[in-house]
Amino acid sequence: MPAKQEISTTSPIGRDTPRVDGPLKVSGKAQYTADFHFPGMVYAVPVGATIANGRIVELDTAAAEKMPGVRAIFHRENIGKVFRSTPGQGFEGICEERRPPFEDDIVRYYGQYIALAVADTFETAKAAADAVRATYAAEKPNVETHLEADDDPDEVDTTFGPRHRLDSQRGNVDTAFANAPVKLDQTYVTPSETHNPLEPHATTAMWDGPTLTLYESSQGIVNLRGVLAQMFDLPNENVRVITKFVGSGFGSKLWPWTLSPLAAAAARQLGRPVRLVLPRKMMFHSVGHRPRTQQRVRIGATPEGKLVSLQHDYIYQRSMLDAHHEDCGEATPFQYSVPNLRVTFGRAKRNIGAGADMRGPGAIPGMYATESAMNEMAHQLNIDPVKFRIMNEPKIDEGLGLPFSSRHLLECFQLGTEKFGWSTRNPVVGSMKRDGLTLGWGMAGCAWIAARFAAAATVQLRDDGTARVACATQDIGTGTYTNLAQLAAHKTGMPLDKIEVALGDTSLPEGPVSGGSLATASIVPAVLAAADNAIASLMTIATATPGSPFENRKPDDLAFGEGRVFVKADGGAKGVAFADLLKRANLGLVSGSGKSEASFGNPKPKFSTHSFGCHFAEVTWQPEIARLRVSRVVTVIDAGRILNTLAGRNQIEGAVVMGIGMALLEHTSYDPQNGAPINSSLADYIVAVNADVPPIDVHFLDFPDKEINELGARGIGEIGLAGVAAAITDAVHHATGVRVRELPVKIEDLLA
Ligand code: MOS
Repeated sequence: MPAKQEISTTSPIGRDTPRVDGPLKVSGKAQYTADFHFPGMVYAVPVGATIANGRIVELDTAAAEKMPGVRAIFHRENIGKVFRSTPGQGFEGICEERRPPFEDDIVRYYGQYIALAVADTFETAKAAADAVRATYAAEKPNVETHLEADDDPDEVDTTFGPRHRLDSQRGNVDTAFANAPVKLDQTYVTPSETHNPLEPHATTAMWDGPTLTLYESSQGIVNLRGVLAQMFDLPNENVRVITKFVGSGFGSKLWPWTLSPLAAAAARQLGRPVRLVLPRKMMFHSVGHRPRTQQRVRIGATPEGKLVSLQHDYIYQRSMLDAHHEDCGEATPFQYSVPNLRVTFGRAKRNIGAGADMRGPGAIPGMYATESAMNEMAHQLNIDPVKFRIMNEPKIDEGLGLPFSSRHLLECFQLGTEKFGWSTRNPVVGSMKRDGLTLGWGMAGCAWIAARFAAAATVQLRDDGTARVACATQDIGTGTYTNLAQLAAHKTGMPLDKIEVALGDTSLPEGPVSGGSLATASIVPAVLAAADNAIASLMTIATATPGSPFENRKPDDLAFGEGRVFVKADGGAKGVAFADLLKRANLGLVSGSGKSEASFGNPKPKFSTHSFGCHFAEVTWQPEIARLRVSRVVTVIDAGRILNTLAGRNQIEGAVVMGIGMALLEHTSYDPQNGAPINSSLADYIVAVNADVPPIDVHFLDFPDKEINELGARGIGEIGLAGVAAAITDAVHHATGVRVRELPVKIEDLLA
């Protein structure tokens, strides 16, 4: 493939590049939010409601207030004014739970904050929070798991604005399905899942007169700044958010939660920095979860395997007040060629905290349903599931009527089948054995959106021979520090250790949220343009400075490489280090700025831009002891050019691990009596651990997507999770003969 040839041999782009922040992390020097200490800082512990539906009748704070070391017990009467926030035009002001803390005395979900204890030590604050007594007028909560759509209008409000409940439609799906020679009509259920990043949500808020600073574990510092400015009625520039390192978020830290205004309001009242770190248990209440979904998929096909109709009608659970949209139908209109299609959604209100984006929101539960249905239909038709997909490969995005910017799903299937050895699969259920175990082989395709958010960056070249690249985005553990260093190195030819990366501070040029797998694609053009502009300034200096070796040249005669300026005609041999040129001009540095526009949300795109891929999964099954294990996974991803193949593989491996958890382990259960999440600890909320995870063989195609940026890099944070659960459940069927259509697969399902 030609791509690699465009990248010079000294560029780190497209190579295994160890994280530039790795040494800081392994030596414990990387500072996470709760590692920052401030003089006079006090500790806050929220009090959560112990009912999920009702009203607070009385709050008794007397005992808590009397405890030595307690600074205050805040509640509705004494927290001070906190405003609501609302989304702005473009991509700002976004918040899943818009009700400010303590706004009214109504309790709508278990764990909703009803008070905040603040004390000199964490232990005292915890004891005081436990001593607050609430009396409620409680009603039975609605946490019903079976979902019937509420009686909503055709157009509903969502976090990102109004949305029609008819997602997508073409042809005449009712007639086509009624007349289809082969039909499938099944409903798939995915449970609530709760994000469990290692680092809990944490914030430290402090005021200096009219300016508010928050140290926060956030996936989107610029958006958080805007929301806080609204909540405290401040100019944006009076709010600063700092996020140096994040112990991951998986979407739970993408949009602000009420712990941040709560800490800021308490800090305002006390005139001291206030730290609030959520206990693990509260992370199951008030900082989002992947909502439960129930998805009916109807497929009509010819006996030869051509799709004639596809219907995807999904319902998801939502909270009483909030408008999170779980976009399960995102990939349905374009993934396969089908003339008749309809995608609709409905919502069902429950007494549960706000739903939120969780790694691959919408399309991941959505593709579990549609890819499972494709596998079931292939089985019904007695056609190999890979062949069935190839037969229905679309030429264009039939939902938008637009060409794909770059789609290489068929090449993914080809490489995946080869690496997995798929051609030796015997489709007969339970027919494949190894070492006394029954094998199951399953597969699925996947897709995830690719686009850019707006981004700005600066690059400085400094007289000590180093460079600095800066952007107000954040590294959530995925490798963004390294990506920025790679991009600056790519343009300047400087080694990575001569490049300082500054991010995680809203005082830097505005950068994207780390979400939607969009951050990398967004920052590429901004950083490259900033580096180009810094180099252009340097060339002007080189030619304009009296006594410079390039005094008689024009900037266009010069080139820059490996940190040196040289005359193009001479090649790199006689270059001068840029630091020397700066010193000669009495300059400390030259600076360049770069910007790139958003493509996300573009109402008139020219292309359909997505990443694609596929998974092949093997399970082993021992019916004698009902033991099911995932024993092998091969994943192939088409995500344009991968900037850092080392961190990139990490992302896909991590996503596949999460997919194993989604298929076999993860679910949050709510107590029908009081609405509390029952399994609200890491002992009871089971995620896949090393013992659950087999070798994961990850492959990247290398088809740069030049529609997205000049390097052709899309994103890889989420796509690795799409389709994994469908591949595993299909493998489970192949081994056991049981179709499980409600995740996670439980051993009881297989004994039936
Ligand atoms: Mo991801 S759910 O967009 O942080």
